[in-house]
Amino acid sequence: MKAVIFDLDGVITDTAEFHFQAWRNMANSIHIDFDREFNEELKGISRMDSLNKILDYGGVIDNYSDEQKEELADSKNNEYVSLLSELKPEHIYPGIKKLLDALKENDIKIGLASASKNGPTILDRLGITNYFDVIVNPALIENGKPAPDIFLKAALDLGVTPEECIGIEDAEAGIKAIKDANMFAVGVGTVDVMKKAGADIVLENTKELVFSSLLDAFKQTSPL
Ligand code: G6P
Ligand code: MG
Repeated sequence: MKAVIFDLDGVITDTAEFHFQAWRNMANSIHIDFDREFNEELKGISRMDSLNKILDYGGVIDNYSDEQKEELADSKNNEYVSLLSELKPEHIYPGIKKLLDALKENDIKIGLASASKNGPTILDRLGITNYFDVIVNPALIENGKPAPDIFLKAALDLGVTPEECIGIEDAEAGIKAIKDANMFAVGVGTVDVMKKAGADIVLENTKELVFSSLLDAFKQTSPL
């Protein structure tokens, strides 16, 4: 194992909840409602793809011009960014800082593969930017998750092969992306959902993201 590539929202901190709140408020403003089950489909998906899924779910996708869609996406992002102003280092999920320290101590490279254009701002607010050897810019990735492209780009920029990487994700689309990239997939979340998506191991809480356990799990399935 030479690198660990992290998703951000819902893995490093609770911003997945902020996305849910902001999307639901935007949807409610145009008389669409959705629940947490539907929200699972939005996780890991780009801003515009998420909006299209919501409009499709509400049966109104053809009623909006590209310009109106931009306005809706902007209004969601404005609310989301204002929620981010509350974010502080104490909001890093349990176990993450310890894992980042252990990875550094063991010379394992660290990458970020988040679809979020707000990723760098979030890492700054949490005070952990310096841990990351590579932060992939999602604006330069043509095919979003579940395509493997963003994880493959992270590996390429880190100078390692995909088979030498562990990817950590909380979204079904993200687990699929990791597996299609030929990496070892660690799912954080509900066992059924993560297993169905193809996760190699599932942890219900980030507290369980312990370096030695990850290494053991990786070694069991990989000769590298
Ligand atoms: C992540 C989140 C998604 C979010 C996407 C784009 O993948 O899981 O919920 O829609 O990033 O985020 P952004 O901050 O660019 O709107
Ligand atoms: Mg996520």
